Formats: sequence, structure tokens, C-alpha cells
Amino acid sequence: MSSTGIVYRPRRLRATPGMRRLVAETRLHAADLVLPLFVKEGLTEPAPLASMPGQVQHTEDSLVEAVRAARDAGLGGVMLFGIPAAKDANGSQGDAADGILQRALRASRTVLDEVPAGTATPVLMADTCLDEFTDHGHCGVLTSTGAVDNDATLTRYASMAVAQAKAGADVISPSGMMDGQVATIRDALDDAGFADTSILAYSAKYASAYYGPFREAVDSELTGDRKTYQMDFANAREGLREADLDLAEGADMVMVKPAGSYLDVLRAVADRSDVPVAAYQVSGEYAMIEAAGANGWIDRDRAVMESVTSIKRAGADVILTYWALELADWLR
Ligand code: PBG
Repeated sequence: MSSTGIVYRPRRLRATPGMRRLVAETRLHAADLVLPLFVKEGLTEPAPLASMPGQVQHTEDSLVEAVRAARDAGLGGVMLFGIPAAKDANGSQGDAADGILQRALRASRTVLDEVPAGTATPVLMADTCLDEFTDHGHCGVLTSTGAVDNDATLTRYASMAVAQAKAGADVISPSGMMDGQVATIRDALDDAGFADTSILAYSAKYASAYYGPFREAVDSELTGDRKTYQMDFANAREGLREADLDLAEGADMVMVKPAGSYLDVLRAVADRSDVPVAAYQVSGEYAMIEAAGANGWIDRDRAVMESVTSIKRAGADVILTYWALELADWLR
């Protein structure tokens, strides 16, 4: 026993900024981060989102600028969401060759590929879901009684996936939580000659209050909720089953969403997945930190860094966050 009586002093490793940096177990890198972007048909100026300060609905031109910024910042990827000028019951703009999302993907493909041969460029991801395109706001098509029709929706997703792949998407990202969506999309992509297009499965996606601001971002018309297809926040084991099914159906990556309230699920999925695991820090998580920061109730910048680092610490290989560009700047 030493004269102080204290043998172990963990504080030694916290004493200086240099020591803390040396022993940090988790480091963020710009390449871990994926920036979600919204593009709206017919906009002439970017439209700021009141519930997501600092984020906008992009015009087709400003989207291209944002994708270029993501490229120049060395981000790992961009995830595109399209908002059509007109919505209908089947979400017919979702798979239209000249639909807003397909146009945005084609323009993004061009910008992302403007790099010297052999250099990494951000991976181009497309949200593969109907809710941005339907007038009722659900993630699928409806039966005559208004229920979300799983198998009829799969046909729509297959068509959307092929349209997105044709438009240049590297990654198809089914986020609608229909049973069998990964297998159906894999088959459709393979049959259409897109065997090399990847699938990022939104595997454990919860029916969450934290998607609130996103509804503004995509002009969602939803009344009611998504509880018959998105998961109950009480359940963790069920999230593992969803991830296992998606892996068995051929998912190249799996996702847990939202992130911050589901770090236990994220850790559990990461522990059993042998494919990369993504987590989506969603609109409400962003809005809460922005709002509290704007009020001076928390230190916004520190909270941003803490929240995103915690998602990586919990096991995410890939993190979707609306702060991706700002973080990349800080990390430089
Ligand atoms: C579905 C989709 C949603 C989000 C991403 N993809 C909305 C929902 O499922 O209700 C939410 C993202 C966010 O809140 O940031 N297309």
C-alpha cells in the first residue's frame, strides 16, 4: 500500500487535453457521417425548416451545392429525400423516371463523380419509402379499409428501388418497415441488372415522436400514426429479430433508428451483426439540442459532439446526422 492509501488513480489519464486525446476510445471521422438532404420539386429558393434550424428543403440547384459541400468535406455519404409537387394515393412520383428524387439522384451522381479517378467520394443513398410521395402520408399503399397493405407496398418499393438505382444511387434504403422488403428489393435489383447496388435496411425502426420535425421537412400529410408497421419503443428483442430477418434477406447494412433513445438496441445489434451497422440521429434529436442550445440551456456545440460520439461508442459504424457538415468542419 502506498503512503496515500490510494493505489489506482484513474484521474491521471484525464489530467491534460493531450492525455485525454491519447486515451480516447472513440473518435469520430467525417467518413463515418452521412448527411440527410431534402429536395423539393418546384422550389425556387431553399426553404428553411422552422423546426430544424439550419436545415432547409433544397431546390434542385441548392441540393447540388449541398452535395458538392458534402463531397468536399469528405463525408461518408449523403441520403436524399424527395418531395414531389403533387402527391397521390400510390405515391406515383416515387418511381417516376423524371420524379424529383430520381432527378436529384442523377444530378448528385454527376457532382459526386467529379473527383480524380481512384479517390473516394461520398456514397449516394436514396430513401426508399412512399410516405414522402403519398397524399395520405403512409409509408405504403392502403387497402380499401385504409390499412397499410404490406404486399402491395412491396411491389411499389421494388419499382422505386430500380428507379433509384437507374438514377445512380449506390445504396437503396428501405425505411418503410414492410415485412419482406429487403428480399423483394434485392430480387428486383438483381433482375434489373443492379446486382452491385447495396441495400441499407432500416431494420429496427421505431414508431417515434422524434420524427416530428421530419414531417415538416417532407410536407407530410399524415394523420394518425405508423404503429402497425414501425416498432413499439418498449421492445428491444424484437429489434434484433428484425435485424436478423433483414440480414437473412440480404441486407448489406442494417440500421437502428432513432439513435439516442435506442443506444441499447444499437449496441445489441452491433454485437451480433457481421455487416456494418448504421444509426440515424433523427430530426427530433437534432431539434431538441438546437432548441435547448438556442435558449442557452445547454452548450449546443458540446451537446452535438457528445450525442454523436455516444452513437459511435454504442456501436454505430455509420451515423446519419443533420450535423454532418458542421462536424466534418470541426473534425478537420
Ligand atoms: C420514412 C422516413 C422517416 C424518417 C426517415 N425516413 C419518417 C418516418 O418514418 O416517420 C425520419 C427521419 C427524421 O426524423 O429525421 N420515409
